[in-house]
Amino acid sequence: MTLLQIDSTYQQVPLTTLAPDRHVGIKLFLRTGEDRYVLFLNETSLLSTTKIKQLKRNNVSHLYLNTGDRQGYLSYIKDNLSTILTNPDLTENDKASIIYETASDITEELFLQPSAESIEQTRNLVDCMIDTISQSPKTSNLLMMLTSQDYYTYTHSINVGIYAVSMMRKAMPTISDAELKTLGLGFFLHDLGKAKIPNSIINKQGPLDQGEWELIQEHPTLGMELAWDMGTRNPAIIDIILTHHERCSGSGYPKKLVREKISLPGKICAFCDVFDALTTKRSYKKALSSFEALKIIKNETPEHFEADLLNPFIMLFSQQ
Ligand SMILES: [Fe+2]
Repeated sequence: MTLLQIDSTYQQVPLTTLAPDRHVGIKLFLRTGEDRYVLFLNETSLLSTTKIKQLKRNNVSHLYLNTGDRQGYLSYIKDNLSTILTNPDLTENDKASIIYETASDITEELFLQPSAESIEQTRNLVDCMIDTISQSPKTSNLLMMLTSQDYYTYTHSINVGIYAVSMMRKAMPTISDAELKTLGLGFFLHDLGKAKIPNSIINKQGPLDQGEWELIQEHPTLGMELAWDMGTRNPAIIDIILTHHERCSGSGYPKKLVREKISLPGKICAFCDVFDALTTKRSYKKALSSFEALKIIKNETPEHFEADLLNPFIMLFSQQ
């Protein structure tokens, strides 16, 4: 399921994404024939349980919105995410699609315009994702299958967030949902500092010059400062942002920490960060297969990566 499917000026809205007794805030239409749509719900009207039951009785699985209302619909999904995800009619595939598509919308905004509000939206998304994974563990694998192969800073953040949450659960099976929610937000925010670096440097095709490379190496510190300025000061979150480029050999940045000085979430984020960078395509490089990427990471273990985490990390991708 994709949340929105384009049909000329109208887009499909799955009924399962509409929570009962809420204002959707946009006009919704019923499709009555090819290119024929009639108004079903006004932007000010409530979508009552009775109306939803009526639609289900008539085997209606989708309503339609005007293309121009797309943003309004995505805002509605963001605002009602936890309610929507607990709809018993949703399949695990639907849940994974909703989480991934909402994550794309939220994190794209986060990197375009980092703000306390966009961090709060990311926190809500991560909370909903962890709750969904706890209730339907299969969603975790389904999310891993949805990860984008096209590299953008925001898709990279989602992919790393999804991989690292799964990996954290493997490495610490007794971890509580509350702890995982905090670390999950850290994983989603790990590259926040890149919002402060010009895209021309992040997406540069040729090798970086000395000044550009030095600026890139500042992104963990810039991310920490940005998070701090926006009120995100949890030490576990700041730690992930700061340490995801540290390497066990001490050759990482920004602090050249050695193995014992790097936290478990920092080490996990490093695995996921490199794996996603290798398996996504950029304008100047093709995407490697999971197998090829894992081989490269294996060759760099234990020198750069934590040996104890290698097998659980490989297992993460063999279960898909
Ligand atoms: Fe990074």
